[in-house]
Amino acid sequence: MKELGKAMTLLALLLCLSASSPPCTLAAACDGKGKPLVTAVTKDPATLLYTSPLLEDSRRLLLDLSGPLIWAACDGGAQTQTRGVTLSANATDGKTPLYPVSFPAAASCAPRSLLAGLPAGAAGVAGLASAALALPAQAARAQKVAARFLLCLPRRGDGVAVFGGGPFFLPAPMDMGDLSSTLTHTALLAKKGSPAYYLPVEAIAVGTARLPLPAGTALAAAGVALDTRAPYGELRPDVYRPLVDAFNRTLGRDDARVPAVPPFELCYDSGRLGPTRIGYLVPDVVLMLQGGKNWTFTGPNSMVDVDNRTACLAFVEAKRGHGGGAAPAVVVGGFQMEDFVLQFDLEKRRLGFAKVRFFTACSNFNFTGRQ
Ligand SMILES: *[C@@H]1O[C@H](CO)[C@@H](O)[C@H](O)[C@H]1NC(C)=O
Ligand SMILES: *[C@@H]1O[C@H](CO)[C@@H](O)[C@H](O)[C@H]1NC(C)=O
Ligand SMILES: *[C@@H]1O[C@H](CO)[C@@H](O)[C@H](O)[C@H]1NC(C)=O
Ligand SMILES: *[C@@H]1O[C@H](CO)[C@@H](O)[C@H](O)[C@H]1NC(C)=O
Ligand SMILES: *[C@@H]1O[C@H](CO)[C@@H](O)[C@H](O)[C@H]1NC(C)=O
Repeated sequence: MKELGKAMTLLALLLCLSASSPPCTLAAACDGKGKPLVTAVTKDPATLLYTSPLLEDSRRLLLDLSGPLIWAACDGGAQTQTRGVTLSANATDGKTPLYPVSFPAAASCAPRSLLAGLPAGAAGVAGLASAALALPAQAARAQKVAARFLLCLPRRGDGVAVFGGGPFFLPAPMDMGDLSSTLTHTALLAKKGSPAYYLPVEAIAVGTARLPLPAGTALAAAGVALDTRAPYGELRPDVYRPLVDAFNRTLGRDDARVPAVPPFELCYDSGRLGPTRIGYLVPDVVLMLQGGKNWTFTGPNSMVDVDNRTACLAFVEAKRGHGGGAAPAVVVGGFQMEDFVLQFDLEKRRLGFAKVRFFTACSNFNFTGRQ
């Protein structure tokens, strides 16, 4: 990951020097203008990372919320170079794909060795950060849509990403209307030297009790970041320990506790915990945001079934020293974001979020299409 970081920085520099290409100069490639674009999002079972078929021939790119650019492996023996890659998606009305759209994008190429660690079959990375060469900004320029994107990450099956905003619908037994109009909003912060999205978290609570975090709190200084490359939430040791202790104590259930299943520490006999239609009934883990709003993780986003008899608290301790002083205090991982509608608005610099109700899921998006 460290090597990858270095290479990414190098690529970013190379691109800054060479990228001035306004995409969509070929009129023929610009149909679908003004309409948001939709793509399917799949979770790779081996790496637990998310990919989308954004390249021609349905080749996949890893979705990286913190990535500042788009890259794919170089052809032949080339090391790095900048090139156009045509990207593919479908125009959408927020309900279903309407018709295929291809648009040129500035992408870089990187040595094949950087594909190691990506899901098998992934040909590169689509960065989703707030940067001119990341996918959201490029899609906005090419398609003349808002610099905004919506993620609905799947636990299984096909989830969905929409570039350009607009309404968003999931089929359900009862009509839930446009989900993008039901979101709770919070500011998106930037930290110097990091392309990641950060949230203004003032405290973390388990149930109704705030965690006793060290004075001068780590949260504000080191920050709370969102990262789709982290399969589970990662907490710095000074945040992790109070969270595990509070969860353990608040849930009680010493009767159901079973030995740790690394990397998870707090595990339970899932049969005794009693799964319900709305997940395990465990204490909420709450990110208390500036302005008095909460991002609340209930059982489906806080407890992972590691096998068919064991469920564990789905947060891990961040490795000490990893990333040095710039490491966030808390990373909200993919598992926490699944089956939430998340809308990143790069113009208003805010995140809208809403839990998808238990009777539907991100994987219910209607990809049947009208073609
Ligand atoms: C466009 O949508 C159709 C119908 O769901 C699908 O078969 C096709 O793969 C999509 N194209 C892209 C590039 O995602
Ligand atoms: C946010 O969560 C805290 C901790 O559970 C709770 O005390 C508070 O009432 C919640 N606020 C809102 C607006 O729900
Ligand atoms: C949970 O609490 C019990 C005491 O109730 C303790 O024995 C156990 O070690 C705790 N587990 C963790 C992972 O902190
Ligand atoms: C639980 O998993 C084991 C192996 O992982 C399997 O043999 C067993 O059939 C499973 N039990 C149930 C009830 O699914
Ligand atoms: C999916 O979309 C197609 C085309 O608009 C429509 O015919 C079909 O009824 C939709 N399916 C569901 C489950 O909404």
